[in-house]
Amino acid sequence: MHKPIPLSDNIYYVGVNDRRTALFENMWPLHRGVSYNSYLIVDEKITLIDTVEVGHTDKWLARVRALIGTRPIDYLVVNHMEPDHSGAIHLLREIYPNLVIVGNKKTLPMIDGFYGISDKLQEVNEGESLSTGQHRLTFYTVPMVHWPESMVCYEETTGTLFSSDAFGSFGSLDGGIFDDEIDFDHFRDEMRRYYSNIVGKYGNPVQKALSKLGSLNLQTIAPSHGPIYRERIAEMLAMYDQWSRYDGEKGVVIAYASMYGNTEEMAEAIARELAVCGIRHVRMFDVSKTHPSYIISDIFKYKGLILGSPTYSNELHPNMEALVMKLQHMGVTSHVYGAFGSFTWSGAAAKKLAEAGESLKWELVAPQVEEKQGLKAEKYEACLALGRAMANRLNEIFG
Ligand code: FEO
Repeated sequence: MHKPIPLSDNIYYVGVNDRRTALFENMWPLHRGVSYNSYLIVDEKITLIDTVEVGHTDKWLARVRALIGTRPIDYLVVNHMEPDHSGAIHLLREIYPNLVIVGNKKTLPMIDGFYGISDKLQEVNEGESLSTGQHRLTFYTVPMVHWPESMVCYEETTGTLFSSDAFGSFGSLDGGIFDDEIDFDHFRDEMRRYYSNIVGKYGNPVQKALSKLGSLNLQTIAPSHGPIYRERIAEMLAMYDQWSRYDGEKGVVIAYASMYGNTEEMAEAIARELAVCGIRHVRMFDVSKTHPSYIISDIFKYKGLILGSPTYSNELHPNMEALVMKLQHMGVTSHVYGAFGSFTWSGAAAKKLAEAGESLKWELVAPQVEEKQGLKAEKYEACLALGRAMANRLNEIFG
């Protein structure tokens, strides 16, 4: 009953949507769902590329069986072992006992470790190929995009790159599967939120992967989440290049914590002066209101970053501390930076924020501003000065 979704002759999309799971990796909000993409090559050898999250096995197998009926599956290529893609391996092996599972030398021990499967495994090395009959898959390792064993495969007769997590996106596929069937603007932010939070720590490995794959004749990019690209390939490569260099656009994220509104008042003054000085893209976030994944996504988008926090028990506000730690763990570099804060009896937050920026080699544009209790004229002027300094620096960089 399922109408086939072909990428090209004998290569099909057999992925599924998940609009029920609230948190990806039990951490990242899925307010628009997610898709687990899987691909089937119906050739002399029936070959699946990746499985799906285990809770979606039934509807996934229904799509597969609609294409192959009772024919057995010969190969399962495992590009990535994170269970959102590998979760159905053990069920697939039970249904197809002669299934050969294909992975690299780092994949195969993980298959044993996660699922206790150690037989009928076929190891492939960098640059090796597997023929399915009319089609040929060539394997390239892309370590840390997103796990050490991450791999992609390239089908040369159609120019299709099965790119695993690379070029993936949050967001379910709501009818449209290919980039020319959808409103891509609807996906752009979710693609960056996926990249920045899931893969963003690994900028250097992504750069290495881009140089390795850039010489291939790419006609289609088929990731493991989100749309399949056949019209926006150059744009995808350019976006990944920019994000993996942490190279933001002209604009400023102001992220602040505020218990009773005093630190927020400082943020308002800074934001207003940024706008007066010509910065059109200013994004403000209360870190107690917005999940950090959305803030981090915009920090990847924009060059300017200003963080503010009250002093809380001689430390940063806990939610700001969590955001700062996440940015430090990810090693987010190349930002122009400002810090501010407030306190009631003893100040520490602004200094700690400035030190956090220093640890990431961010360019501090002005001394940190810190107010005692409510915002007063002198520190209000200092907030305006911070906004002006940020705007002037961005105007210098971008014009
Ligand atoms: Fe979509 Fe790293 O798994």
